[in-house]
Amino acid sequence: MTTTPSPANPYLHPLTIGHLEISNNLALAPMAGTTDATYRPICHGLGAGLVVTELVSARGITYDPDLKRSWRYLEITPEAEKPVAIQLFGADPDDFYRAILKIHENPILSQCDLIDINMGCPVPKVVRGGEGSALMKTPDIAARVIEASVRALATIAGAGADVSSAGSAAVKPLTVKFRKGWDAESVNAVEFAQICQNAGTAAITIHARTRDQFYSGKADWEIIAAVKAAVQIPVYGNGDLNNLGDARKMIDQTGVDGLMIGRAALGNPWIFDQLQTELGGGIWSPPSAAEKAAMMRRHVYGLSQHLGEFTGVTEMRKQLAAYLRGTRDAAHWKNLAMQAKTLADVETVLNDWLDFQQNPV
Ligand SMILES: Cc1cc2nc3c(=O)[nH]c(=O)nc-3n(C[C@H](O)[C@H](O)[C@H](O)COP(=O)(O)O)c2cc1C
Repeated sequence: MTTTPSPANPYLHPLTIGHLEISNNLALAPMAGTTDATYRPICHGLGAGLVVTELVSARGITYDPDLKRSWRYLEITPEAEKPVAIQLFGADPDDFYRAILKIHENPILSQCDLIDINMGCPVPKVVRGGEGSALMKTPDIAARVIEASVRALATIAGAGADVSSAGSAAVKPLTVKFRKGWDAESVNAVEFAQICQNAGTAAITIHARTRDQFYSGKADWEIIAAVKAAVQIPVYGNGDLNNLGDARKMIDQTGVDGLMIGRAALGNPWIFDQLQTELGGGIWSPPSAAEKAAMMRRHVYGLSQHLGEFTGVTEMRKQLAAYLRGTRDAAHWKNLAMQAKTLADVETVLNDWLDFQQNPV
């Protein structure tokens, strides 16, 4: 079991999960449709200590012989984003066991540093199958999913199938991300965290909302504090971390080891640079319009390389809208971005946007 010594700077410090040393305690939250093979390296390069793929179906992986269908979601770029976690969802322990072995048969995917299990997704088509946040209603199944996953990781490491080997140096750590509970009447994050820990989880992330809240309402940081106090493994706090003040406040109020940032990183990968600089006591300068344009260009070319130009540009539209938020005359530029169909269209929007930001009329 990992214990977390008091760091010199409680706000910004390295983190150890199982045997894995992570350079800092800031993490990019998994977000379907955003935290892909293009965006994760961007955030990693700007200071995110840990990045996580979006959720991928464990069963889907077992039914995908050459991983062609899952590849878009699973693809990692080890040289550009380590440490990186692959996040799986499902509800059948055997699916997890087989999916993890299969991931580790692949020369690229086997270089992932962590396997994370999604026990927080609120989406109806996921919870209907008892998956995602529905596992908070069936902690016995959740424990079996974790144990099977740890067994798979131990098997890969050649450490045998003993769950107690989860802390051994060779075994890749398993983490779990879950919520406050299913609904206001069944808040069970504290007990659930202990179940995760006892089943062999090396670190947890708590998103401080119930499933019923989806993404609305205020995150309840008191539950984060209660979870942190109840386990010995590292805890990432998640929910409503939007700026430096929030980051400091969450650490002060909850004592969490790590901060996991979701929506505040949409169109704003610089939040990691900012937090890393400012939590470290430095002075941060925001990116210039030219740096923003260069980043949007990098992002859209990356998506197009991975997904083809049409899908890449289509997927980039919502990302562009996020990057453009808060810039001069944003509604106009977002509207133009939403109509882009080709890389040339995006280039035109970006060039005109940059010209306008630098020389407003
Ligand atoms: C568009 C979107 C997609 C998400 N996809 C995932 C996912 O694939 N896996 C997961 O564990 N959480 C997912 N989440 C939840 C986030 O990881 C995070 O827990 C949530 O947004 C709260 O953090 P925030 O307040 O910093 O955004 C998603 C959230 C959003 C907004």
